[in-house]
Amino acid sequence: MASPSSAAIFILFLLSTAWVLPSEAQLPQLIKAIKVGGILYCSPDGNYCPTCQGLVGVNVTIACNIGSNNYTTYALTGPDGVIDTLLGCGDGFFLGITPISCVATVQLPVLNCALLPTTGILQAPLTLTVNVIVSLLGLCVEAFIGVFVHLTA
Ligand SMILES: *[C@@H]1O[C@H](CO)[C@@H](O)[C@H](O)[C@H]1NC(C)=O
Ligand SMILES: *[C@@H]1O[C@H](CO)[C@@H](O)[C@H](O)[C@H]1NC(C)=O
Repeated sequence: MASPSSAAIFILFLLSTAWVLPSEAQLPQLIKAIKVGGILYCSPDGNYCPTCQGLVGVNVTIACNIGSNNYTTYALTGPDGVIDTLLGCGDGFFLGITPISCVATVQLPVLNCALLPTTGILQAPLTLTVNVIVSLLGLCVEAFIGVFVHLTA
């Protein structure tokens, strides 16, 4: 019959074994939203330049194609041209598994920036990070707006 101490060691063994099982963080996580960050500048193409200022109060469209669904939200640029918004993704998706592509679009012309073209759109791809944080909508992944390109179509 096992002594109390060997039973205790056995229980410790079970507990330590449990620690090496995959943690929840390593399992696919259901992402319910995308936290989009970026800055829109008053420059010839909306991108950073050393002498350019952030462009405030511009309506930016964030659109994502996730799996076979499209999701869209609109955000106004804040102080210093900062874009910081949450795009809800319905039933959610699995990071690194579900195909996803997102773009940010600015319809021209905009007020208060004479450097930008007056027709067409600015469009930039979004880059998803691996940073997953908790939001009001559930788990959300952080994404950054990349380089804007002026499209005349
Ligand atoms: C941004 O533009 C969209 C589409 O025109 C419009 O529905 C939305 O109300 C606008 N958002 C703001 C905050 O002006
Ligand atoms: C989603 O958007 C893409 C690109 O704009 C379009 O080709 C596709 O038909 C859309 N899918 C749905 C389900 O609306």
